[in-house]
Amino acid sequence: MPTTKSDSTRPLAVITGASAGIGREFARQLARRGFDLLLVARDAERLSALGAELRAEHGVAADAWPADLSRDDGMRPLAEFLAQNERVTLLVNNAGFGTKGKLATRPVAEQATMLELHVMAPMLLTRAVLPRMIARRDGRIITVASVASFTASPGNVNYCATKAYNRVFTEGLALELSGTGVRVQVLCPGFTHTEFHDRMQVDKSKGIPGWAWLEADRVVRESLDAAFGNGPVVVIPGKRYRAVVFALRYMPLWVRRLMQERYGRARI
Ligand SMILES: NC(=O)c1ccc[n+]([C@@H]2O[C@H](COP(=O)([O-])OP(=O)(O)OC[C@H]3O[C@@H](n4cnc5c(N)ncnc54)[C@H](OP(=O)(O)O)[C@@H]3O)[C@@H](O)[C@H]2O)c1
Repeated sequence: MPTTKSDSTRPLAVITGASAGIGREFARQLARRGFDLLLVARDAERLSALGAELRAEHGVAADAWPADLSRDDGMRPLAEFLAQNERVTLLVNNAGFGTKGKLATRPVAEQATMLELHVMAPMLLTRAVLPRMIARRDGRIITVASVASFTASPGNVNYCATKAYNRVFTEGLALELSGTGVRVQVLCPGFTHTEFHDRMQVDKSKGIPGWAWLEADRVVRESLDAAFGNGPVVVIPGKRYRAVVFALRYMPLWVRRLMQERYGRARI
């Protein structure tokens, strides 16, 4: 386990869900930007291998913190460690997963796990790092939501609802933090090539047009450019998705509902 004290003068970034997909890409790009890393996910072997790769390539410290963040005994020790750590400059709340199927047919435990991982863990970790960031007048927190946070979809109800929580939570927090020097971002990607859909056993070749897919490196680049530039609180990678979200926000509710029903029927 890493210690809270370190001789390193580099800033420290903590990334949840760092073993794959968007989280792994955050780790790679942040190592390139000279951050030390704390890599969190369940798969200890993958985290250690990534840490070794980034240490060798970029000369940064990159420690693995294996934990199941959907469990109390996974999220709370990490929150306690972060609350004591002077060096956390960036927290990326990224770990997440999707499910497919109507709520009434899905296992209760699986849906409860989603709420713990998408809602409770980011809230607890964010709460843990805030006091020291505010005292230092420096820090960034990125929480990965989704374009789904702007919609509701049959077969996907808790996914959309938990991602909406991430978005509204971050938008509110941004107002609370105004003038403190601490900045928060909610990252809302559309379909992105990662392991996400394979883990859900969704056939990526069906139903989702090619133009709709993003690469993880672009999603992360747009997020970090916004976080370290003067970017917005809500970051939606890709012009096409910004147009989709604009349309979703301003179209009449009955049109949105019709579209959501159609899209939802196609995916369940
Ligand atoms: N891909 C997309 O199309 C898309 C679109 C919009 C938003 N997102 C969001 O982007 C985020 C990252 O997803 P991704 O696309 O990169 O998927 P991914 O490739 O499947 O990666 C998910 C990451 O979350 C970790 N994770 C899952 N359950 C966990 C748990 N209980 N405790 C700790 N870590 C856990 C996984 O690691 P372990 O298995 O090792 O624990 C993995 O590192 C998610 O929040 C997702 O909702 C994805």
